[in-house]
Amino acid sequence: MKITNICCIGAGYVGGPTMAVIAQKCPHIKVTVVDLNTDRIEKWNDENVDNIPVYEPGLGEIVKHSRGKNLFFSTEVDKAIDEAQLIFISVNTPTKTYGSGKGMAADLKYIELCARQIARVSKDDKIVVEKSTLPVRTAEAIKNILDHTGNGVQFQILSNPEFLAEGTAVEDLLAPDRVLIGGDTTPEGQKAIQALVDVYANWVPKDRILTTNVWSSELSKLTANAFLAQRVSSINAMSELCEKTGADVTEVARAIGMDSRIGSKFLKSSVGFGGSCFQKDILNLVYISKSFGLHEVADYWEQVIIMNDHQKRRFSKKIVSTLYNTVADKKITFLGWAFKKDTNDTRESAAIYVADDLINEQANIAVFDPKVAYNQVIADLNYLESRAPHKNEALVKSFSDPYEACKDSHAIAILTEWDEFKDYDWKKIYDNMLKPAFVFDGRNLLDREKLTSIGFHYQAIGS
Ligand code: NAD
Ligand code: UGA
Repeated sequence: MKITNICCIGAGYVGGPTMAVIAQKCPHIKVTVVDLNTDRIEKWNDENVDNIPVYEPGLGEIVKHSRGKNLFFSTEVDKAIDEAQLIFISVNTPTKTYGSGKGMAADLKYIELCARQIARVSKDDKIVVEKSTLPVRTAEAIKNILDHTGNGVQFQILSNPEFLAEGTAVEDLLAPDRVLIGGDTTPEGQKAIQALVDVYANWVPKDRILTTNVWSSELSKLTANAFLAQRVSSINAMSELCEKTGADVTEVARAIGMDSRIGSKFLKSSVGFGGSCFQKDILNLVYISKSFGLHEVADYWEQVIIMNDHQKRRFSKKIVSTLYNTVADKKITFLGWAFKKDTNDTRESAAIYVADDLINEQANIAVFDPKVAYNQVIADLNYLESRAPHKNEALVKSFSDPYEACKDSHAIAILTEWDEFKDYDWKKIYDNMLKPAFVFDGRNLLDREKLTSIGFHYQAIGS
């Protein structure tokens, strides 16, 4: 099947950037990204690309390049499904917050709604691509729904998980380590795989396009995230031991990372990993393992989450104990709220949990993040339901100027590794703080020597 028309359901952090890159690299294909969220679609269509809803370095330019030519953002979901030969499902798959599997299993209700809508609208054969991260064997459920339309339309289901990381989405999409496509072993399945391979082959070298069966593809995505998160929890576990023993976790990471079998990436000790996916995908893996009775497998992976929760809590406890066991009515400034640098995404950010702990201790929190607005900070805290929303609003303020945020504070906590934090005038910040002035660096971002010579009490992770 020659693909000339693609639809993507879900205009989020994955759907938006992925489709913008496909559109740029495949000018002969019309790409329409649809979403139920009209506000989001309006922002994707904002004339000023600085206002698109996903902040990613380089993304604005790519959207500008193709938007209105072969890249469209729309709320007309039915129309886009009807026109397309290839439909990506890129909707959210959060952890279930109700019913059986609550707090563990992936909530597939948005996926199912998409499948039902595709079944209802389609008048000719289609390839449906799972772009969202899904539990292994979800394709079976999607196929079941699609095969019961009764109008003779044939569907092929492919799994094509996305491996981009936020903050580097454009780079990752332009030059992926690999593209993974899983499909049926039948001749029709193989033809569908080939059609999708041909789309990616417009810019991805053939030897980086991997094809497998559907189940391997689905499970590889969960496995990749579990391994990545496990590395962070492993180094964070060592960070606590470093603090007790006089070792320095940065030196340890460097020493082990030079072993080519271990590798140097993803060994940065931190206040804990965040983001919408690591925790959700591991919980999902744990749930699946348990549902097959594989309790040792489940416990093994669950430990990655337990360690991460411990790391976040340990950071807030350290702030309280260092500040003479009370932070009540003290101003603590958070530099960074996003879950990592170069993104405006705050989902599961460590900052949220550290703030929640400190608010429980009645601290006043001042937040500065170059890409996160106050309403998002408050929404993140309210989502935890730890206290009434007006209490969060009373104790948390945000600032558009970092120096104002730090003024008169007792301590600064670095929660996100934004590059600009390194270049601030730290002497000026010090002069305007209460003394003794503390910095708790949750990202090992700043220069210890420089800060201590200014007069700061500086504490990093794992040293
Ligand atoms: P997101 O929440 O940013 O975007 C999902 C979008 O889907 C939302 O805008 C929502 O309104 C829309 N949507 C939901 N149901 C819909 C429906 N029935 N019709 C039309 N639109 C609908 O989510 P995301 O971060 O883009 O993640 C999407 C999927 O990709 C998840 O499964 C996630 O695990 C996976 N993933 C995410 C990342 C990442 O970096 N964020 C990376 C790889 C994989
Ligand atoms: C991660 C994976 O890296 C992507 O491959 C995957 O596609 C994506 O999840 C997903 O499925 O959503 P992302 O969460 O965007 O991407 O960002 P990462 O760079 O993986 O960082 C995740 C968290 O781990 C961040 O909070 C980051 O600060 C933290 N981290 C990462 C560390 O604390 N130390 C490290 O060495 C690396």
